Amino acid sequence: MCGIVAYVGPRDAQPILLDALSRLEYRGYDSAGLAILNGKGVEVRKKSGRIQELAKACASHPIQGQSGISHTRWATHGAATDANAHPHQDAAKKLALVHNGVIENYLELKTILSKAGHTFLSETDTEILAHLVGDAFQSSKAKGEARLVDAVRSATQKIQGTLGIAVIHTDFPGLVVGARRGSPLVIGVGEGENFLASDTQALAPYTSRVVILQDQEVVSLHADRFDVSSPLGDRTNVKIEEVENGVTHSDKGTYPHFMLKEIFEQPAAITNAFRGRLDVDAATAKLGGLNLGSQELRQIERICVLGCGTALHAGLVGKYLIETLAKIPVETQHASEFRYGDSPVSGRTLFIAVSQSGETADTLGAMREAKRRGFTCLGICNNVASTIARESDGGVYMHAGPEIGVAATKSFTSQVVIFTLLGLLLGRLRFLSAAHGRELIEAMENLPALITQALAHSDAIRAVAQRYAKHRSMLYLGRLANFPIALEGALKMKEVTYLHAEGYPSAELKHGVIALIDKETPTVLIATRDGVYDKNLGNLQEIKARGGPVIAVALEEDKKIITLADAVLPVPRTHELLQPILNVIPLQLLSYHAAVALGRDVDKPRNLAKSVTVE
Ligand code: F6R
Repeated sequence: MCGIVAYVGPRDAQPILLDALSRLEYRGYDSAGLAILNGKGVEVRKKSGRIQELAKACASHPIQGQSGISHTRWATHGAATDANAHPHQDAAKKLALVHNGVIENYLELKTILSKAGHTFLSETDTEILAHLVGDAFQSSKAKGEARLVDAVRSATQKIQGTLGIAVIHTDFPGLVVGARRGSPLVIGVGEGENFLASDTQALAPYTSRVVILQDQEVVSLHADRFDVSSPLGDRTNVKIEEVENGVTHSDKGTYPHFMLKEIFEQPAAITNAFRGRLDVDAATAKLGGLNLGSQELRQIERICVLGCGTALHAGLVGKYLIETLAKIPVETQHASEFRYGDSPVSGRTLFIAVSQSGETADTLGAMREAKRRGFTCLGICNNVASTIARESDGGVYMHAGPEIGVAATKSFTSQVVIFTLLGLLLGRLRFLSAAHGRELIEAMENLPALITQALAHSDAIRAVAQRYAKHRSMLYLGRLANFPIALEGALKMKEVTYLHAEGYPSAELKHGVIALIDKETPTVLIATRDGVYDKNLGNLQEIKARGGPVIAVALEEDKKIITLADAVLPVPRTHELLQPILNVIPLQLLSYHAAVALGRDVDKPRNLAKSVTVE
């Protein structure tokens, strides 16, 4: 995690760094800091808390200078204090360094450096790297600026782990050196000025011309040029790419929070997910970005979906969709487990990595492992310029627009729609009849209006949320494709309210979970009318018999459940395969309204970051 921005050019660096950094706050918001070469040396400001706190510190004590580095932190080693905020400096205080990544052997290195007389001001792994670069600089035989580049290269070779770094040094006022291994870093190519950043979003107002640094590359950045070199020090020819970058600083409009805005954007977001991808005549989906022909698609024998958190929940719904529509067995794996496990994978398996950000370290690592084994890997991503989007063999973009709220909402429903398209396409290449395909297409086209109808219950859901927000713990139950919806509902509740919430398949209740039921533990039961409706009503009775309150997600027209449940979250009816998309809407709203009732920081809940770029 963490976000980095660096600037070299003719303008004042401080306002540019603060502005660009604010676009990276989704990568972490525990502390922020910057360092600028002020003509006399390196001057540092850093503050725990949000970038706003840093901006205040800079406003009262501004730093003048045209090159600098900055950082927004998601704490890994050491608490969110001023001292642990980046940038960190070397022993001689001649250089400053910001880092995104994790140094796995930092304790070992710290012991060695301490024995050699180094003292440290923070508990971070990054400060070790700053000292290593400082030491390497002292002992380097290279001349001029090459000395700093050489120092960065040799210090990073001692590191096990991941890094994206930017370094400035008192002796070289117009130079920033950057390096990457594992963590992303892009060069923003301006007119007479250049930038480094963790991603292209940070650079949106400044330039749309970027160079994506490759792993192990080092860059020396000046106002009028930049040189990229390989790990061995050879100069590398780079490709400048144009990125669509106009977006990003999207504002909340009339909504009090991004999360609510993004929940209400779902009719448009899912329309974007299927627009231009439905072939009504052939009753199928058109997904050109897969880069796989009909023959290849027919040969797929298994699918393995990789993802984390909400993206994995979308994959779990995807499993039901693809298995039902195309009869292809689908397994889902936590990306973090797959990348280090011995999981056997059979021959004609297609991998699908699902990630809103396209930068999640575990998903990227798992995808690379699948590719290393020789499997074709598709990506379902929202961020078009992301590493997963670029490294996958093909895929489907979500086009959901920027998702700023840390809790994923519209990206989830967009991902499920894309799995529906995949299921339809694969199904129509196998057994699915045109009539069934057409039914699904029609239902998909009607879905945006039905989501709008589900959103209209927001005020009623707020009343339910206010009633139950004071409870410490909640259960979420659902069956089949609604089991992942239960998982997703519980995850949303945990993330934004900090209440304890667990999702289970409804039938698991009696295998242990039922011991938790009492009048203080409400259960959210997803019980829309489907093949297992009566079974769910059985669960409802079991919970009521033990004094547990039940909040039911049920069809608007379901009169029976109103008499049984303590509260109902109504949803309209749709095609059974698409019903989970509607069922998640009231659960998102329930979490949102409960978080507001509890006075939580809805868009930036504690301990979280939007993009998890460390393992
Ligand atoms: C939940 C949430 C996380 C992400 C997960 C994967 O609201 O935001 O669980 O879904 O970190 O992120 P992406 O989709 O960016 O790979």
